[in-house]
Amino acid sequence: MKIAMIGTGYVGLVSGACFSEFGTEVVCVDHDADKIAALRRGEAPIYEPGLADLMARNADAGRLTFTGDIASAVAGADAAFLAVGTPARPGDGHADVSAVYDAARAVAAHAPDGLVIVTKSTVPVGTARELEGLVHREAPDRELHVAANPEFLREGAAIDNFMHPDRVIVGANSERSRSVLEQLYRPLSRLETPTVFTTLETAELTKYAANAFLATKITFINEMADLCEAVGADVHALAHGMGLDRRIGRSFLNPGPGYGGSCFPKDTSALIQTARGAAAPTRIVEAAAAVNDARKESMAHRIAAHCGGVAGRTIAVLGVTFKPNTDDMRAAPSRVIIPLLQSWGATIRAHDPAGMAAAREVIPGVTWCRDAYEALEGAACAAVLTEWNEYRNLDPARMKAALAEPRIADLRNIYDPASMAARGFAYRGIGRITPGAG
Ligand code: UDX
Repeated sequence: MKIAMIGTGYVGLVSGACFSEFGTEVVCVDHDADKIAALRRGEAPIYEPGLADLMARNADAGRLTFTGDIASAVAGADAAFLAVGTPARPGDGHADVSAVYDAARAVAAHAPDGLVIVTKSTVPVGTARELEGLVHREAPDRELHVAANPEFLREGAAIDNFMHPDRVIVGANSERSRSVLEQLYRPLSRLETPTVFTTLETAELTKYAANAFLATKITFINEMADLCEAVGADVHALAHGMGLDRRIGRSFLNPGPGYGGSCFPKDTSALIQTARGAAAPTRIVEAAAAVNDARKESMAHRIAAHCGGVAGRTIAVLGVTFKPNTDDMRAAPSRVIIPLLQSWGATIRAHDPAGMAAAREVIPGVTWCRDAYEALEGAACAAVLTEWNEYRNLDPARMKAALAEPRIADLRNIYDPASMAARGFAYRGIGRITPGAG
């Protein structure tokens, strides 16, 4: 089998490298010549554990190559995956699918007979159907197929997610599409991974529904955390108790400063727009998105309240990426929280193990520090925004020595409230009972 992977962003690169690991010949295509040159040198443009090794191994074996030329990539290919960006359109929140259409047009222009064009990027319901019309108009002389195969990769665990997925979703409406995708994913069926074959529309919507459900689950536990605080209950024991019900499950019940990242905010917003457009509004998802937006702001108020005001004081921020093990700053809560604190007169010192280069571009006026202890120097509060493992193991005595005032606002609940209080910190977590705190 040979496939072309159009777009070498996060999804395209991870999927391309993983398919090549299955033994498939993969040609990754991007119009960014510098990116292709870097990829050919073996440089991974994103921080994803295991990706560089996977790329190197399969590039050496000759199964994974990179080019700017779509024509040669699709020549002799069985499938072309479209993994280009579908950002939220500024203004209306709809997903911008213009890059997907452009890629499909370019693929169709050079496609061999029988090629299956597969949407991998998250695209609104109806996109694959539209693409069918488009590619048939572009290449009326050839038999081309369109399929939908949404990804469910989590940043930081993407390789493992691809290799051991809970399921594979395939929207296919021809025997050829079905059999090509079945063959490509055969190594997974040996692991008894369920594959759900369905229509184009159902496959597209399944992706949105899954992400919207997870975003709602997080938002639910965040509201429960606030309620726990108000009534003197503990959200972790509550989540454990809830999660033991197998219908609910414990995962994605970790309270925090609100979900961020490249998927949940964009996909909930696109789903909301699709549903409104179809006169079937998803009110629960609308509420979750609004509550999550408000939560990011409320986290800045929480830090300020914990400090008794931040004007003229220094706040140390530990972690700025939307979650650990990534350098991704997209929709990170820090992008709302830090500017608000600054607008109230706070000076921000911050550290992040991987995100500082990207953060510099999007959050101005911050003193970026070499490590966590340096960030804490002279600060009135340590605010934990991302649960990087290295912050879990900081030495409390050194933290206390560096801080001007021993205070922690732990928005990810990485520390134990009782032990932090016992060490003399004014500690505030999310939805937890802190001994001695009012
Ligand atoms: C997500 C989906 O999990 C994945 O299936 C989809 O394809 C893309 O979007 P990702 O954005 O990489 O993946 O991150 P994820 O680990 O799901 O976390 C998203 C956000 O939710 C992060 O900001 C994280 O901090 C937050 N989160 C997650 C919580 O606040 N609590 C939780 O319990 C879980």
